[in-house]
Amino acid sequence: MISRKSKREIEKMQAAADVLVKCHKEIAKMMKPGITTMEIDAFTEKFLEEHGAIPEQKGYNGYPYAICASINDEICHGFPRHEKLKDGDIVTIDMVVNLDGGLADSAWTYAVGNVDEKGLRLMEVTKTCLYKGIEQARAGNRIGDIGHAIQQYAEGEGFSVVRDFTGHGIGPTLHEDPHIPHFGLPNKGLRLKEGMVITIEPMINEDSWHSQMDSNNWTARTIDQGRSAQYEHTIVITKDKPIILTDQDKE
Ligand code: MF3
Ligand code: CO
Repeated sequence: MISRKSKREIEKMQAAADVLVKCHKEIAKMMKPGITTMEIDAFTEKFLEEHGAIPEQKGYNGYPYAICASINDEICHGFPRHEKLKDGDIVTIDMVVNLDGGLADSAWTYAVGNVDEKGLRLMEVTKTCLYKGIEQARAGNRIGDIGHAIQQYAEGEGFSVVRDFTGHGIGPTLHEDPHIPHFGLPNKGLRLKEGMVITIEPMINEDSWHSQMDSNNWTARTIDQGRSAQYEHTIVITKDKPIILTDQDKE
């Protein structure tokens, strides 16, 4: 079942997203060599608590932390660690905020210190993939249009699109229908409707797209040690441009 959200529900999700955006902006300032992702996890828990919000990921299907922190060849669902981040690492911080029952989900890849040129390009291309997907996300278009735009661009830049994890409908629970693959064919798949709230969250790899699961049964990483980046927004479908609830650039 694919739900369309009421104005009231969208307002609540926007309020959750506002807290999430503030938290990501604080994390951006902390992202320096020497900090640990465990410290960022603790910061996030405290920050959300101070804002009356709950880290939705913690306890979700048994996931143990407030954030996912995926370093270099980790694609997603990396566990926070006590090891210090090193100059040149790239780190994706993913979190879901629950404020008064409204949910928002957003991941962002951060550069730690000086990242090499290819790593920076991977990040830039992945962010552009997110916005190319968002451009296609409007009522009347189909889910395949989103994935196609992302795949075309990523592969054209010499990178690959992770197949094993997708965007998703969101609210009132974290993962709802439909799945939003980041690859696909134009004019295929379900038609998007006004009021649907979905995430677009491309994971783009510098080498092959294949992933393998760590022994913790959560963390996916590349099979060839190639790095992976990810940017994710929660968006509301409208007739025109979507509303980006987790936008970091608005006022
Ligand atoms: N935020 C992730 C997503 O985009 C969810 C991670 S799964 C969790 O779907 F268990 F860690 F919450
Ligand atoms: Co998500």
